[in-house]
Amino acid sequence: MNRYSRITGTGSFLPPRRLTNAELAAQLAVQGVETSDEWIVERTGIRARHFADDGVFSSDLALEACKSALQAAGLTAQDIDLIIVATSTPDMVFPSTACILQNKLGANGGAAFDVQAVCSGFVYALTVADAMIRTGSSKRALVVGAEVFSRILDFKDRTTCVLFGDGAGAVVLEASDTPGILASDLHADGKHVGILCVPGHVSNGHILGDPLLKMDGQAVFKLAVGVLEEAARATLAKANLTEADIDWLIPHQANIRIMQSTARKLKLPMDKVVVTVDQHGNTSAASIPLALDTAVRQGKVKPGDTLMLEGVGGGFTWGAVLLNL
Ligand code: UT7
Repeated sequence: MNRYSRITGTGSFLPPRRLTNAELAAQLAVQGVETSDEWIVERTGIRARHFADDGVFSSDLALEACKSALQAAGLTAQDIDLIIVATSTPDMVFPSTACILQNKLGANGGAAFDVQAVCSGFVYALTVADAMIRTGSSKRALVVGAEVFSRILDFKDRTTCVLFGDGAGAVVLEASDTPGILASDLHADGKHVGILCVPGHVSNGHILGDPLLKMDGQAVFKLAVGVLEEAARATLAKANLTEADIDWLIPHQANIRIMQSTARKLKLPMDKVVVTVDQHGNTSAASIPLALDTAVRQGKVKPGDTLMLEGVGGGFTWGAVLLNL
């Protein structure tokens, strides 16, 4: 009997503090930083984002998303033998946010670790969990994307601080004798480290270098539109499927213009693309599972649908996962 992995539940969580573009613009104006709702909507499609309060960590957002995914799967935390958290905003330098989350869930004993692939983190984590289930080292996994990007934003830099938000999304991935995950395709090109990074690090009790996010937006934009099409096509080819087989494209939620361009290249109408960037902003590794869970709970994405998940971000990293829900 072939062993596959399948998503059996989804969940997500947004911290309650929501800021519209106008509210954020008003706060930035006090510090002499000029932006507007019009600019943000026109260039990105973002209308609002959520920010976690002080003292709330990625593991706290992840906990709520996981509780909801477990409930959807009809499982308890004790059923879980693997937790993978994709995050670039971990609670601590170490141990992993996955270990902290495991303890908060009361799911102690199974394997738990973080994956660091920035905005591609969730597709990386899902691919790793799928491989671990296929090889028999895990039966039931929680695969999570959780971020508090508000902590690493430079609120004096209008070219980045208006783009990102906080949140978490999670899926339960279980061993199955019918295929859920059909194929995946992961890549990185480390020569582009500098175009999207948080260069600071801890050394001898001090932070050396800048601990805030830096991005060359145009360079990232250009790379993203190219690699997202390639990754989608490579993943479809591995599964012997074509664009026509995709029911829903669930891309990383960074910029509506990147999503429109990818959809156009794949000849998919925008009504087959899940869009949540307008309400969430860019939540990095959390953006794909947040979008997935939102679409599931809205009744758009249904069991049996074929989904193409696509991530792209710092590293430079990118990748796609094709699956049957
Ligand atoms: O999550 C990882 C993936 N990340 C991404 O995919 C991000 C990819 N990049 C982007 O989404 C876009 O490049 C941005 C949204 C970051 C920027 O959009 P753009 O159309 O490339 O704008 P731009 O950088 O060319 O800037 C255009 C103008 C500039 O003014 P001048 O030089 O034309 O006078 C900027 O100074 O817009 C100005 N500008 C702003 N104005 C008002 C930049 N940020 C803002 C702002 N408010 N927040």
